[in-house]
Amino acid sequence: MCGIVGYIGDKNAATILVEGLRSLEYRGYDSAGIAIVDKRKRLYLLKKKGKFKALTDCLINRQVAGHLGIGHTRWATHGEPNEANAHPHYGNTRNFLVVHNGIIENHHELKLALKKDGHRFSSQTDTEVVAHLVEKFYKGDLLSAVCRTIGYLKGSFALGVICMHEPDILIAARKDSPLIVGLGKGENFIASDVPAILSRTRDIIYLDNNEIAKISKTQVKVVDLKGKEIKKKKVRITWNADSAEKAGYSHFMLKEIEEQPQVIERILRHRIKSKTVTFENINLSRAALKNITNIQIVACGTAYHAGLCGKYILEKMLQIPINVDTSSEFRYRQQIITKNKTLIILVSQSGETADTLASLRAAKEKGAKILSICNVVGSSIARESDGVIYTLAGPEISVASTKAYTAQLMTFYLLGLYLSGIKETITAKQLSRYLKEMEKIPDCMRDIIKNQKKVKKIAHEYVDRYHYRLAEQFKFLEDDIVQFKDPKKALELAEKWASLSHSAYGRRFGDFPFLYLGRNVNYPSALEGALKLKEITYISAEGYAAGEMKHGPIALIDEFPLVVCIATKSEVYEKMLSNIREIKARNGTVLSIATKGDKEIRKKEYSNYIIEIPEIDDFFSPLLVALPLQILAYQIAVGLGCDVDQPRNLAKSVTVE
Ligand code: F6R
Repeated sequence: MCGIVGYIGDKNAATILVEGLRSLEYRGYDSAGIAIVDKRKRLYLLKKKGKFKALTDCLINRQVAGHLGIGHTRWATHGEPNEANAHPHYGNTRNFLVVHNGIIENHHELKLALKKDGHRFSSQTDTEVVAHLVEKFYKGDLLSAVCRTIGYLKGSFALGVICMHEPDILIAARKDSPLIVGLGKGENFIASDVPAILSRTRDIIYLDNNEIAKISKTQVKVVDLKGKEIKKKKVRITWNADSAEKAGYSHFMLKEIEEQPQVIERILRHRIKSKTVTFENINLSRAALKNITNIQIVACGTAYHAGLCGKYILEKMLQIPINVDTSSEFRYRQQIITKNKTLIILVSQSGETADTLASLRAAKEKGAKILSICNVVGSSIARESDGVIYTLAGPEISVASTKAYTAQLMTFYLLGLYLSGIKETITAKQLSRYLKEMEKIPDCMRDIIKNQKKVKKIAHEYVDRYHYRLAEQFKFLEDDIVQFKDPKKALELAEKWASLSHSAYGRRFGDFPFLYLGRNVNYPSALEGALKLKEITYISAEGYAAGEMKHGPIALIDEFPLVVCIATKSEVYEKMLSNIREIKARNGTVLSIATKGDKEIRKKEYSNYIIEIPEIDDFFSPLLVALPLQILAYQIAVGLGCDVDQPRNLAKSVTVE
């Protein structure tokens, strides 16, 4: 949520900020702003409402010189997206400028107190109080003023602060929101995430909670809240900037979907050595793991769906009870944790999700051992856990998660094998059979990607059906207008319809909801398929355990909804077929996800549309089923003209509660 970037050095700060913000746009895209200071202490401040392009369009043909600057891309939490609420924010004067990611929970009280002192506010944001506090506490030393300010803040923050009186200093500070310092030669950077500065430097420092960095072009000094210096480790980033680029693809989402075979191959290569699963940072002894009698998985969104699938995987392999909770529920629930017996597994792509991080801390306080499955190396969740398994998916930029999901799934299979080895719940024969099956996954994924045209065709046929229906509604509109005697009223009606049809294609798709049904290990796949569709097409979609259909959702069935049935060959295959028959008996439209070569399901009495996946042991099928569901959502979004990589109201990393 919100991206921040900062620069100090001899190069053009505006160019570097724009470059950095562009790669952070996935964190928020409802407004953006930059503040640049030049050697003559002149300030250039530009804020624009809307996507980042609105800001860059304004910069075209403008010479913005300056060696120091901070920039921000916003996902609104306090105050609507407009220029006044866009960052950077300043105090009574424009001498102190601040960019912020996070939430200042006590901003209201602080604002009231500052107002009494004569401070005037020009935005509705929580951030503005930070600029006013720094201004109030400034006595000739920006670092001290920021340290003092932080003492008053409750909530979460990653801050970039500059001041016109000290144009050779950039201050960065963090608590519960990510922030890194990039180390260059004669220049330094700050950013919310590595890709923002990766084309400029590979050497970074991860700031920890309550650490403040005083940054000049040649020096970085990190201190605690009392001003005591902290020695920080420099980390070298080894992955490439191209993995965070589109590389000729029309959208990051499609690029990331197509990267999945390589990601799974990479995980297998890295994790399986001489038929043994290895995890280098698990940090929990074999004896401690052998003692575990129950596991609690905690995550949000797509990671939660991976966790749900993890439950099926681990229960089958370990034969112990596994619970799964969304982080926002787990953290406020009575957490039943038995010391040395309960293992908490957190799943998070970003490693920064606020509710998951809070769950980690709550469970830790109760003495639980924490293992996290994270994608972003060095993220807060990874660092605060006892052990971490990195998913090795590479940077995921698309807001809709795809490759991180299948990487999380694969990690659960491997963790299952690892723990079942320790708990002796698996035989050598079973292990070797599972490993053989897992090795087939990358090629099976390649096969699905090679044949994705079929999914595209179905998606576009469905979009056409929608357009046809829309045209019918316009016909009805025309008839209505003709009948209206009052031309003013007719015009009003026409405008209402026109605005409806242009503004929210997805909402009008209300006539065409989607239902995703799956059973057993593919029940989470159904939930994930529905989530993917919702987030990028705005079509309402629900995922259900197929056996639950009779208990309510069946009332939705007529010819309009598309019912996506995951009916791969498995022990619950016959059960799925009977669910499909129930849908067809009610004139429902069925898209079946089926195993290649299944002739039965091709019959008209079962499927209107069919997408095949290669044959695999059904236990591993969620890894394959995910792909056509991702492609289906993607192609419908493209067909409807939706903004695939930047869906409305969403942001990639949810660092607020
Ligand atoms: C959906 C999606 C979100 C995230 C969720 C958790 O495509 O990306 O639902 O899965 O916000 O994020 P992480 O995994 O970063 O904790």
